[in-house]
Amino acid sequence: MEITNQQLFPSLVWTTLFDDRASFNVRLLDAANRMRNSDPAGVANTNVEGWQSPNILQNLGEFEEMNRRILQVCERIGESQNFKPNLIYQHQAWVNISPPGASNKIHFHANCHFSGVYYMSLKAPECGSIFFRDPRVASRMLTYPADKQTNFTAEEVYMPPEEGRMYVFPGWLEHGVEVNRSDRDRVSIAFNVLATPQSS
Ligand SMILES: [Fe+2]
Repeated sequence: MEITNQQLFPSLVWTTLFDDRASFNVRLLDAANRMRNSDPAGVANTNVEGWQSPNILQNLGEFEEMNRRILQVCERIGESQNFKPNLIYQHQAWVNISPPGASNKIHFHANCHFSGVYYMSLKAPECGSIFFRDPRVASRMLTYPADKQTNFTAEEVYMPPEEGRMYVFPGWLEHGVEVNRSDRDRVSIAFNVLATPQSS
């Protein structure tokens, strides 16, 4: 007897690794550090013991290439999901600098189609992983009596960060970041993207 399965309502996480990550990250890190030096207090959000910039990278010329790539990746993802042509993709992005001991509380991003993160500098795996929580978990009555979890039985899925890699996921997917247990800062750019029809 053959048993087959079909995935209904999958929660997709897309990822891409930039070929020019070494040189690209040097330039980005420089810009991120300048930003922190000019605003040492930053903003308080989901970051615990870390520094977060305001959501203004989309307006800053020194992040122009990063902004372009965020939109390019999300447009490609939108196309893969049959989004309408001629949409306007807009984003907000910010820098996270998480020193040893810092983490990000679990959260989600309302009112956007995609959220994501790009890792500039870190020491893996000690710096901690991004993790995603099963969006169906609130309606679950039992945990599964499994020896080893699968993407179906898991309540949380952890994905290790990598310098030069971008993760994109739906804004409604709850996520957080583990405590940085390395001896280096974990530096990333996070973003939200909204795709809207052009007004006539
Ligand atoms: Fe987030």
